[in-house]
Amino acid sequence: MKPVNADLLRPWTRFLKLAVVGRTVEVPDNNTLLRGLQSVAPDGISRGRFCWNNECGNCRVYYRLPGDTADRKGRGCCLVVKDEMTLTSLSTELKFALREVLKREPDAPVPEAPAPEPDEDPIPVPTFRTENRGQLP
Ligand code: FES
Repeated sequence: MKPVNADLLRPWTRFLKLAVVGRTVEVPDNNTLLRGLQSVAPDGISRGRFCWNNECGNCRVYYRLPGDTADRKGRGCCLVVKDEMTLTSLSTELKFALREVLKREPDAPVPEAPAPEPDEDPIPVPTFRTENRGQLP
């Protein structure tokens, strides 16, 4: 298997196994997770709404490394892919970009207690003080 967009990749030497919510794929080492996923789903990731520089949050994932008992949270454009990495939950944008991969039947175990959806993180809502509105000092 050869990555489709080899010009975009950092120098790499071998493929690493990565489980995408139970679907095993192979991605080149020494690259970010998002770039590795782009080699698996070039159209989906390339056309997705990703800033590629840690600003938009659309690449958020929950993941586990071998030996982990709990999920870690990260951003695919910042994480360097590791062998036997397991993605347990994907952002809505990543789910859409990887829809062809996710159509496949799962062939790897998914942790029993999946992480919350990355998009469901509480976003701080600004509060406005209204009790003195309309009263001039
Ligand atoms: S692609 Fe925008 S934060 Fe990662």
